[in-house]
Amino acid sequence: MNSWWDAAEASSLSPGSCRTVEINGRRIALAHTPEGFFAVDDACPHRGGALGAGFLDGTTLHCPLHGWGFDIRDGACQPRPEKPVRTYPTRTEDGRVWIRID
Ligand code: FES
Repeated sequence: MNSWWDAAEASSLSPGSCRTVEINGRRIALAHTPEGFFAVDDACPHRGGALGAGFLDGTTLHCPLHGWGFDIRDGACQPRPEKPVRTYPTRTEDGRVWIRID
C-alpha cells in the first residue's frame, strides 16, 4: 500500500536546509535543495548519524558525524557506493510537503 504523509509546512524549511521529521514512527531526513524537496532515511548507513542534522551542499547531504556525502536525489553514497540510503518520493501541495512511504 502506498501512503502519502503530511511531513511539514514547506515554508518552514528554508532553501539549503534540512531536518528530521518523524512519520508513523519512522525518522526521515527532509531537505530543501535547489531542485526541490527530497527525503531519505534519517539514519546514516555508516554508524547511524542523524542525516537530518547534516550539512546540505546543493543536492549532497553530508552526515554530521563523519561527513559521508549522499546524493539526496537517489540516495547514492559518494565515498561508499555499496552503502546507499533509502529515498522517499515527495510532493508539495497547498504549501505542505508530503512524503510517500510504501
Ligand atoms: S555515521 Fe554517518 S558518516 Fe559516520
